[in-house]
Amino acid sequence: MVNIHLIAAARPNFMKIAPLFHALNATDWANPVLVHTGQHYDHNMSDAILEDLGVPKPDFHLGVGSGSHAEQTGSVMIAYEKICMKHRPDWIVVVGDVNSTAACAMVGAKLWIPVIHLEAGLRSRDRRMPEEINRLVTDAIADVLWTPSADADENLISEGIHEDQIDRIGNIMIDSFEMLRENIEQARAASKLALDPGNYALVTLHRPSNVDTLGSLRPIVDALLTASSELPIVFVAHPRTIKGLEKFSMKHEIEEAANVTLLEPVPYVRFMSLVTTAKVVITDSGGLQEETTYLGIPCLTLRENTERPVTVLLGTNELIDAGSLAKNLQSVLAGNWKKGKCPPLWDGHTADRAVESLKRRSTALQLSRK
Ligand code: UD1
Repeated sequence: MVNIHLIAAARPNFMKIAPLFHALNATDWANPVLVHTGQHYDHNMSDAILEDLGVPKPDFHLGVGSGSHAEQTGSVMIAYEKICMKHRPDWIVVVGDVNSTAACAMVGAKLWIPVIHLEAGLRSRDRRMPEEINRLVTDAIADVLWTPSADADENLISEGIHEDQIDRIGNIMIDSFEMLRENIEQARAASKLALDPGNYALVTLHRPSNVDTLGSLRPIVDALLTASSELPIVFVAHPRTIKGLEKFSMKHEIEEAANVTLLEPVPYVRFMSLVTTAKVVITDSGGLQEETTYLGIPCLTLRENTERPVTVLLGTNELIDAGSLAKNLQSVLAGNWKKGKCPPLWDGHTADRAVESLKRRSTALQLSRK
């Protein structure tokens, strides 16, 4: 059996790991081993999502939790190295761009364990984002790069990665959505909140650059409160955002606003149900830019740049700021928003292509070791 560590750490990782776990588990040659670093630990940021996705309890839980970037990255490295020394895998698969991604990739590279990066090659070209640093580090040291779109391949090749290392497999989050489409459609989350399906805005925010300072959060909250007179808002807030709202005394304004429903994080199926029946999504998330493009739902992204340009070029996404939110919302409400197209290979079969790549590469690795 080929032993493969799948590293899961934070909320956006789980919907990328789940389809791969299920696809590997269905083979007769691969043994997927789940490693949860514990970067996210609140029930609705972690276990509830894994339950929705049918992923069993992790084989190893590092329990690292929150901390500064160095504390979190260092703690994951120290804990994960111990696991690798005792239970050396044949492969390590890291996903996305969180601190645990770069930490586990570094552990693998230094122990000469082959590392695969799932969702490789994305670049915002903004090194103020911690995720951009994680992406650069991970891609530079990974042995195999699994990319979601052609722009990612181009980025990697321009950075000197050899094309033999790259397999373009598509967007694995779409596999999770398709796997659970029926449950998502039956969840009717909007109706349960007394919202009219197709007639509300779904808001999520969590980027430090938007929520950690008064100067960035105040104009966004003002713009959202103004927008709520046009369209009801359901605001699903990350713990970091709740902290920011409390710290800058804005939480009560949102709670008291007539047309705004403030929710704590919700599990995957309920959340995707809210996405699928939204009129528009307002966000700074990476994953939601992709999910809305796949579903053809207008997406207003409160960021200066995106590592997912295909969602703007082909999809329904536009980058906006607090000052232009009202104008963009008007365009959505007037029915003038671009319709968008689904990028190639975002088809629900990405996990199968990942398994095929891993099988081919495992055979090559075994031959080279003989
Ligand atoms: C992390 C990722 C980000 C990803 C996001 C998705 C990095 C650098 N950032 O950001 O790329 O988009 O996850 O959510 O890895 N907290 C809780 N409960 C939890 C987790 C976090 O209360 O279960 C709070 C803690 O106060 C913590 C803060 O949120 O300090 C930030 O958590 P952290 O994991 O450091 O980063 P995120 O902002 O979640």
